[in-house]
Amino acid sequence: MTSSNSILSITVLPGKSKNGTAENFSEIILSPGDVLSIVGATGSGKTAFINDIEVLAQGDTVTGRIILVNGQNPPDDFIRDPSKKPIAMITQNTKCLADLTVHEFLEMHLRSRKISDISLLEKTIQTANKFTGEKIAAGMRICSLSGGQTRSLFIADAVIISNTPIILLDELENAGIFKEKVIEELRQLRKTTIFVTHDPYVALLTDRRIVMENGTVKCILEPGDLEKDVLFRISEIDKELSAMRERIRGGELLFENKGGTSV
Ligand SMILES: Nc1ncnc2c1ncn2[C@@H]1O[C@H](COP(=O)(O)OP(=O)(O)OP(=O)(O)O)[C@@H](O)[C@H]1O
Ligand SMILES: [Mg+2]
Repeated sequence: MTSSNSILSITVLPGKSKNGTAENFSEIILSPGDVLSIVGATGSGKTAFINDIEVLAQGDTVTGRIILVNGQNPPDDFIRDPSKKPIAMITQNTKCLADLTVHEFLEMHLRSRKISDISLLEKTIQTANKFTGEKIAAGMRICSLSGGQTRSLFIADAVIISNTPIILLDELENAGIFKEKVIEELRQLRKTTIFVTHDPYVALLTDRRIVMENGTVKCILEPGDLEKDVLFRISEIDKELSAMRERIRGGELLFENKGGTSV
């Protein structure tokens, strides 16, 4: 039987556009460790695409796509039992469901998965704190965490406690968390990761880029080293922007000096 630890591939089979025309690709295969991005205009179908993977669509969503696991229709368990589901999706709207402390929340999650290794609790908080500016402490209440802190915690929880092989992230950039740290961590852990993004830096940091239009996949790019120079330039711009962001967050006023850089 397929368990979430034995996922060798996820296959996306084509559906249809918003006008009902057939989508123009034969299949998209995701393997362990693949890091992809999804780009495209607002409303072009990016969230719908990862949502299809999240729900393991079987032609039963607006797009008509079909998702296969290891080349076959997914087992019922994956669809019905949340603890067996091999996919975690962290969306723009992370809601607080229970008024627990971070410690209580993670402990409850460990218990529900019958995991006795309590050290995973601290490891999850440490991992989440790699992604956030303001650190999360075990005694903080989940409901009092910021949007960015909550998302960082959910990502860490998905990779460490759920040990989910596939992670889908919708517009991480808006949470103000350290996105390149997230990418680095997920790469190291060999997670299959999809970033829906409007951020050029995130898009260029991923290996494959799916471009959406009118509800369909317009093209799939695999630039390899072709964008190496631009990636370097974007990382420099991003560093400068991040430094400005941190200073703005710290309450500074930024001025342009004569040389054209902020002082
Ligand atoms: N192939 C499709 N057929 C029919 N409807 C679709 C299709 N793809 C997407 N939609 C619908 O179009 C709307 C916009 O799609 P979606 O939310 O995925 O856009 P998005 O690219 O994520 O936009 P944003 O950048 O604003 O988040 C949604 O209501 C979605 O259900
Ligand atoms: Mg969206």
